[in-house]
Amino acid sequence: MSDNANTRSKPGAPVLSLRGISKNFGAVSALTDIELDVHAGEVVALVGDNGAGKSTLVKVLAGVHQPSSGTITFDGKEVDLTDPGTALDLGIATVFQDLALCENLDVVANIFLGRELKPARLDEVTMEVKAWTLLNELSARIPDVRDVVASLSGGQRQTVAIARSLLLDPKLIMLDEPTAALGVAQTAEVLNLIERVRDRGHAVIMISHNMEDVRAVADRIVVLRLGRNNGVFYPDSSNQELVAAITGATENAVSRRASRRQAEQSA
Ligand SMILES: Nc1ncnc2c1ncn2[C@@H]1O[C@H](COP(=O)(O)OP(=O)(O)O)[C@@H](O)[C@H]1O
Ligand SMILES: [Mg+2]
Repeated sequence: MSDNANTRSKPGAPVLSLRGISKNFGAVSALTDIELDVHAGEVVALVGDNGAGKSTLVKVLAGVHQPSSGTITFDGKEVDLTDPGTALDLGIATVFQDLALCENLDVVANIFLGRELKPARLDEVTMEVKAWTLLNELSARIPDVRDVVASLSGGQRQTVAIARSLLLDPKLIMLDEPTAALGVAQTAEVLNLIERVRDRGHAVIMISHNMEDVRAVADRIVVLRLGRNNGVFYPDSSNQELVAAITGATENAVSRRASRRQAEQSA
């Protein structure tokens, strides 16, 4: 089921293309020769074991880390993501795992945090209307945009963080483990939200450890292992195939378990 980066993906030029991206931290090679294409209106899941390089890749794209080598093409132009502001201005938004919300501020204030539009600062009423409009477009279930974030559930917080990242209408949005802290119902809510973000035409990169969530929402699944590409998969891939690519074992614990059960059943 694994194949090259460009087959079975969305037609047309990708909004993001990485070629030969490497990142060294001193003697540690966090990323080696990474290739990645992401199209508008596509959800690409980035999966891999701890230390596979997922967070480093997201930080390179967010302008937090500079790659040691390789090229990044965004929206048809080769770009230099020298700092987070540059990435954001180009249209690359990131929802980091800690969400970076202010507990004691309300939903409106969090969505507009540090993003008041220039030259004139938006007034409270305009911001409230804009926040409502954005959340309604996402069919988000937030009881009241004047509620403080401290009173919201984990799923609602993730929703606020995603809405905030959409404020500047980015071409690409990256989500680091958006469902990691959530229960079943809230996870479903956030996965629906990710689909709506994709349907608005944004490109989405989602990091996740949960193969069920990945298969439910991703159009393509890109596996990293020890800082390298280790296959591209699709939602119809089996857990075994995915786990094998993630762990680097063709014969791994999961497939051994499955074949043992098969043998038991046919015995
Ligand atoms: N700032 C850093 N300094 C040194 N090594 C780092 C740094 N960030 C990540 N690494 C190393 O890079 C590798 C990839 O890490 P990371 O991108 O966090 O993986 P993942 O998010 O997939 O768990 C790991 O070996 C990690 O220890
Ligand atoms: Mg990580």
